[in-house]
Amino acid sequence: MTASYRFTLVGLAVATLALTGCTRGSDISGGAALAAEAGCVACHGTNGRGTGPTFPNINGQHASYMYDQLKRYRSGERVNIIMNEQVRHLSNAELDLLARFYAAQ
Ligand code: HEC
Repeated sequence: MTASYRFTLVGLAVATLALTGCTRGSDISGGAALAAEAGCVACHGTNGRGTGPTFPNINGQHASYMYDQLKRYRSGERVNIIMNEQVRHLSNAELDLLARFYAAQ
């Protein structure tokens, strides 16, 4: 494989990531630890599957949608007594990581 061919492949991979909307980055390392630390796993599991019938499955959901909802819970614009409390102390960066982590499950 020539060097220029390799660069073309890297370029294509980057372009594919850009096209699939990974604008905030695709690194989700630390996501599982944060989900455990923040307590999300109690209701949404480590795999994003609700642990009970009243807890929604969020695995595979769009990261952009979840990031938006998490910010709305935090601001109180979306009202749910459980979720409002869950995200109250989390930063934008943490909400973004959690959204991308669960989207990837
Ligand atoms: C005690 C249980 C519980 C915990 C802990 C919890 N959630 Fe939730 N989560 C819920 C419930 C119940 C809903 C549905 C709320 C509603 O109707 O708006 C929800 C909704 C959501 C939604 C929106 C789903 C949708 O379809 O709009 C997201 C995203 C989410 N949770 C992520 C998280 C994250 C990330 C954490 C950790 C910071 C977390 N949750 C912690 C119970 C929980």
